[in-house]
Amino acid sequence: MNSSATAIYAQRRAQMAAQLGPKGVAIIPTAPEQQRNRDSDFLYRPDSYFYYLTGFSEPNAWLVLTGDGKSTLFCQPKDLEREIWDGFRLGPLAAPAQLALDAAYPVAELDAQMPALFDGRDAVWYPFATHKALETRIDGWLGSLRARVRFGALCPEQQRDLCGLLDEMRLTKDAHEQSIMRRAAQISAGAHIRAMQMSARMLRDGQPVREYHLDAELLHEFRRHGSQYPAYGSIVAGGANACVLHYRADVGEIRSGDLVLIDAGCELDGYASDITRTFPANGKFSAPQRALYELVLASQEAAIAATRAGARFTDPHEATVKVLAQGMLDLGLLDKNKVGSLQDVIEKRAYFQFYMHRTGHWLGMDVHDCGSYIEPSEVGTVSERKDPLSGELIKDRPARILQSGMVLTIEPGIYVRPAEAVPEQFHNIGIRIEDDAIVTDAGCELISRGVPVRVDEIEAVMRV
Ligand code: GLY
Ligand code: MN
Ligand code: MN
Repeated sequence: MNSSATAIYAQRRAQMAAQLGPKGVAIIPTAPEQQRNRDSDFLYRPDSYFYYLTGFSEPNAWLVLTGDGKSTLFCQPKDLEREIWDGFRLGPLAAPAQLALDAAYPVAELDAQMPALFDGRDAVWYPFATHKALETRIDGWLGSLRARVRFGALCPEQQRDLCGLLDEMRLTKDAHEQSIMRRAAQISAGAHIRAMQMSARMLRDGQPVREYHLDAELLHEFRRHGSQYPAYGSIVAGGANACVLHYRADVGEIRSGDLVLIDAGCELDGYASDITRTFPANGKFSAPQRALYELVLASQEAAIAATRAGARFTDPHEATVKVLAQGMLDLGLLDKNKVGSLQDVIEKRAYFQFYMHRTGHWLGMDVHDCGSYIEPSEVGTVSERKDPLSGELIKDRPARILQSGMVLTIEPGIYVRPAEAVPEQFHNIGIRIEDDAIVTDAGCELISRGVPVRVDEIEAVMRV
């Protein structure tokens, strides 16, 4: 890690420590290694909170932060034999200088040292409900300390959830994070173009195209630019498969005349990108495909226009729904005589038949990133309403007010499953268009537009 990156992590730890109270202590473990089968593990990925505060990507590591700003790392010891098999370990001797920490110890000393690190503290902070058995481990350390009260030990009286503090910090992306996210989105955009072009080329050459052929293009482009892994399981859905929201790239044949929906993004240096494009497999939209595509695009434009500092998180969704609902009436997907006016469609959520997800989510280290969707200053304002479709009682709290540096996706869609009252020309068409946006004071910066989104631009890039 270079020294400017080290300084960024140290500064985050200082900011975190300042919120613990002078006598607080925080414990943040990294992610465990996960067995895939027998003696094969899944590719290792550190815990997002831990990595956000350390930039350290080895497994078996714990960060302990105290309210006076001191950072202690417990990490794997140097071990030549293990390093021959599994690779380099930084080790506790080198870690303090390399990671700008105050101290580092072998992870095997954790149980012995933690009770003493708790002594005289008033609150123990850790991320609640995120790490299996962490609470039990902390109870054990507290128990060991309590066994020493007769000798003057002083136990912390509070346990507090660290997620809220860390989520708030992670919600607004600093310049370092934004630049990684721009690059991740740029790589993913190139991967989408590559998949589009491969689809058209293979069909032109008379070769059968399967979803996994296009998935292979995505992976190739991600890796050749240094991305460590896809940020989530890529969706490559040909034809009717696009109407399955959580479909994964599989063996489905992609036929000329089908649309292909690809929802895929790489993870780069701990940060996700998340892009969806829907394109004609052969490079040319049919009239019904184009009509629905233009509608989704118009709804995305409305959402983009509603995304700026000072707007609510829900504003883009509401803008999308208005455009989509009107389009559903205009195109005959919804029958005016049955569902009524635009206002009725929105109030009764009749559009839900074809648009059943939200228009976006926070994006960052996790693809569905952390951060409260409720405005913190208005958390006590609660209203209740009955959901028009399910009848369920819903508690509404005022949505988050967007601020410069927050990053979110804007991803409207339309999914038309065959049904009697639905015009046949639209059956089995599934479309989503998803871009990644950094909120700015004036609006938003779309960082994923390296891949075309307009009909004529998609058709042009697919002719190459
Ligand atoms: N790719 C996951 C999502 O769009 O939310
Ligand atoms: Mn998304
Ligand atoms: Mn997505």
